[in-house]
Amino acid sequence: MDKEINTVAVLTSGGDAPGMNAAIRAVVRRSIANGKRVIGIQKGYQGLLNEEMSDMSPRDVSDIIQKGGTILRTARCEEFKTPEGQDKGAEICRKHGIDGLVVIGGDGSYRGAQALAARGINTIGIPGTIDLDIACTDYTIGFDTAVNTAMEAIDKVRDTSSSHERCSIIEVMGRNAGYIALWCGVASGAEDILLPEKYEFKEQEIINNIINNRKRGKTHHLIINAEGIGHSTSMARRIEAATGVETRATILGYMQRGGSPTCKDRYYGSMMGAYAADLLCAGKSKRVVGYKHGEYVDFDIDEALAMQKDIPEYEYEVTKSLSI
Ligand code: ADP
Ligand code: F6P
Repeated sequence: MDKEINTVAVLTSGGDAPGMNAAIRAVVRRSIANGKRVIGIQKGYQGLLNEEMSDMSPRDVSDIIQKGGTILRTARCEEFKTPEGQDKGAEICRKHGIDGLVVIGGDGSYRGAQALAARGINTIGIPGTIDLDIACTDYTIGFDTAVNTAMEAIDKVRDTSSSHERCSIIEVMGRNAGYIALWCGVASGAEDILLPEKYEFKEQEIINNIINNRKRGKTHHLIINAEGIGHSTSMARRIEAATGVETRATILGYMQRGGSPTCKDRYYGSMMGAYAADLLCAGKSKRVVGYKHGEYVDFDIDEALAMQKDIPEYEYEVTKSLSI
């Protein structure tokens, strides 16, 4: 049943992602343009439970579209995973007149939105994560900036790796998903790309590749390793011992989450933010916004959370032939 709302709140939750500010800006301005009051909640569900919130005007989101991080701050909140925490969150929403909430984050954050919707608060999720690991959408806000940041860092490691004729293992983020590794591995011409979805302890295969590539005259060997596999430093030690080729590990870490968002992240952030505000203003609840086959779409949260996503087989197969 659609329910008319008066006040839209917005929060960011889970890991921050470049482009979240564009999404916040769009939620605020589009909701105000639709005649709603808007409240910004600080520090995700933790801030909701602590009642850290204030009214937002269009001027409160001036000069943020180009900034990394999230002006609303973000947090992970264990208490909100409990029914008591969720009851308290819904009660606080009612106390402050919040009848609609936009949650910008990943799958975990959607579960919080699902719980609030079950308690009578209209909620809409927006995919905000660098990991691209949300099944109901082809795009998640932050991915493009993160892979470009990682790619530029890998290019730099490649210079020193070639100069020293070394093997380099570069570990990128992505939690249990390999999308960041796949994209920046292809874009930086890596010899091996290790994805959690495809990895079956193939270290001997990598060792053989390194030895064969040396014979073919390659002066470096770049291995992009996904965080979901990890252990890059010990892997480097084993590879060096087995091949005799000097091997170094670099873990890129949090730099991948920061920085000014690319045009793509600002654009998708803006459109998805506006779309989420429109859904709430149309009385919808328990939906998540996605981008599928060139269109903005929305799904029921239960349905979205049940969807599965995998590395496209063709793309993975192509990576093999481009590194010979
Ligand atoms: P992401 O949203 O990026 O997947 P997390 O999985 O860390 O990140 O989730 C972010 C926050 O969402 C958690 O810290 C918690 O507050 C909330 N959350 C996660 N899972 C649940 C759940 N099962 N029920 C309610 N809230 C949840
Ligand atoms: O989800 C984004 C992400 O950066 C993942 O790639 C990574 O596994 C995780 O967050 C790290 O989380 P935290 O900020 O809690 O260390």
